Amino acid sequence: MTHTLLSSPLQGFTDFRFRNTFHKYFGGIDTFYAPYIRLNGKLEIKSNYEIDILPKNNKSLTVIPQIMTNSADEFIFVAKYIQQFGYNELNWNLGCPYPMVTNKGMGSGLICDSTKIDHILDRVHSETNIIVSMKMRMGYENNEEILYTFPILDKYPLKNIAIHARIGKQLYEGGVDLEGFQRCLENTAHKIYYNGDITSFSRFQEMKELFPSIDHWMIGRGLISDPFLPFMIKNESAEYPEDRFELFSKFHDTLLSEFEQKLSGEKHLIMKMLQYWEYFATSFSDPQFIIRKIRKSKSLRAYDDNVKNILEYEKANVY
Ligand SMILES: Cc1cc2nc3c(=O)[nH]c(=O)nc-3n(C[C@H](O)[C@H](O)[C@H](O)COP(=O)(O)O)c2cc1C
Repeated sequence: MTHTLLSSPLQGFTDFRFRNTFHKYFGGIDTFYAPYIRLNGKLEIKSNYEIDILPKNNKSLTVIPQIMTNSADEFIFVAKYIQQFGYNELNWNLGCPYPMVTNKGMGSGLICDSTKIDHILDRVHSETNIIVSMKMRMGYENNEEILYTFPILDKYPLKNIAIHARIGKQLYEGGVDLEGFQRCLENTAHKIYYNGDITSFSRFQEMKELFPSIDHWMIGRGLISDPFLPFMIKNESAEYPEDRFELFSKFHDTLLSEFEQKLSGEKHLIMKMLQYWEYFATSFSDPQFIIRKIRKSKSLRAYDDNVKNILEYEKANVY
């Protein structure tokens, strides 16, 4: 079976700069989901959302935009807006777990409201020709909420439902609920994609054995923690390429220079890179040491030196 790998959206991480840089050096991802577009009551798209999905910024990538909303008007507005750029699919985020979102009945806080989901899908399908796909958790309070929603979802020609096998209340704590995920597979006619905690090649192998019918896999944090992961999965081997650290270094430098164009001031730039390093470091030998080094970088020059030393040390100690 061929496996399709999807980059799960990470707001603040997987913007077009990351996507392009990732694709250039590592590859292995078939489709990238852009982080969500959220309107706050006004039918207006903020410029940073637009920049992220503009075709000229995503030339060699396959990208699917995403919306987070509980309003049919907003959904229809964004669907028509992205269609002008040539997109024909809009992914709906019913997964976000944060109380600021769920308390407003959005993200995973909307899963329990099948009447509203029905109303939105009904209007979207009758007023636009956009293809809708879903990305959801299994519920907010418990993993049965999704089971009550499936009969509604089954009424619509959704492209797929990507399920992050957790509930909203968990945030990112605890493990993924694989029994709950299995129950989902048995209770909907829709195509299901798996999402959650694919962090290594061996973890992917385990999931593949547990869910032999799944051929679409969404990877979020694992992609940043170990950008070689999609390559390994596609290559069916846990081996890194021989030039692992050279490649990583080129990827890193390109990402840095991309953000240099966007952010003003060395401090902001280092803070941005630190966010990535909190993930990158986990596939290196001493994550805490690396984070301390990056955090203590007081200038871009110090940061560059630290990164160089970290990569040289890793290279010398891994081989
Ligand atoms: C910092 C961060 C930002 C995220 N932003 C989004 C987002 O914009 N849209 C979305 O559907 N999910 C978002 N997620 C959830 C991830 O896409 C993914 O579903 C989740 O992390 C589980 O997959 P993973 O274990 O492979 O990371 C975000 C997660 C994190 C940690």
